[in-house]
Amino acid sequence: MNASFNFSGGVVIVTGGANGIGAALARRAAAAGATVVIADVQVEAGRALAAETHAPGAIEFEQVDVSSADQVQTFVETVRSRHGRIDGLVCAAIVQPIGDVVDVEPATWERVLGVNLLGSIWASRAVVPVMREQGSGSIVMFASGTADFGKAGSAPYTTSKGAVASFAKTLAREVAQWRIRVNLCRPGIIDTPQFRAANPGMDTSKLDGPEEPVGGLMFLLSDAASMSGSMVTREMPWRSAA
Ligand SMILES: NC(=O)c1ccc[n+]([C@@H]2O[C@H](COP(=O)([O-])OP(=O)(O)OC[C@H]3O[C@@H](n4cnc5c(N)ncnc54)[C@H](O)[C@@H]3O)[C@@H](O)[C@H]2O)c1
Repeated sequence: MNASFNFSGGVVIVTGGANGIGAALARRAAAAGATVVIADVQVEAGRALAAETHAPGAIEFEQVDVSSADQVQTFVETVRSRHGRIDGLVCAAIVQPIGDVVDVEPATWERVLGVNLLGSIWASRAVVPVMREQGSGSIVMFASGTADFGKAGSAPYTTSKGAVASFAKTLAREVAQWRIRVNLCRPGIIDTPQFRAANPGMDTSKLDGPEEPVGGLMFLLSDAASMSGSMVTREMPWRSAA
């Protein structure tokens, strides 16, 4: 059974969309007709993605550091004035430096929480007023199994992901009255640039690629997902067969 999505006329923001899962989603959403605007700090990768052909939709790139509330607000206003609406927000931007709790410098803690947690908050508080006016919108954030189970050497990341999940659930309750949905995705273990950087030396050859969680993300963005405050979880369905 094939699930196909029609995002024609839709406008979707993907933070951290220059790489990994965000980039795979951007491609699929554009192929379904959406105008996707990615906000990322990696200019070369972002421009290269935008330069590909994505008909019938398109991908645009803007250089944005999501840890800056001002940059995010200006970015969202630009998207709104350029395209007139914002139907989806996917908060994928993260950093994941490794190091034990006592060794990670305070500035690194602040950077990780600034990008991973505050970045999701700044993007949400900027798009909610737009979606509120429309009376519709879908926001998707990423959780992680490491926030529930812990992961030695990754406390800033796991802490940020636990907080993102709490934030998303509360936001879902606040904005339901305007038919704005907020859901979480736990994508499983996916071979992406940040995953490799956070797991040096690991054999990633049998891991799922970034396109595997995209179907679930497309569903959460689509009107078919009449749900909010939920978590779509991929517990590595293909790994057991590997
Ligand atoms: N890969 C996995 O196994 C896995 C597991 C659980 C959850 N996730 C979640 O999935 C999401 C996507 O992760 P991924 O693995 O595709 O990562 P990725 O490294 O492939 O992509 C992260 C992107 O965030 C961008 N970014 C970093 N700092 C930024 C900033 N200040 N402003 C804007 N953009 C910034 C990076 O440039 C990069 O393009 C993340 O939220 C992550 O927590 C991933």
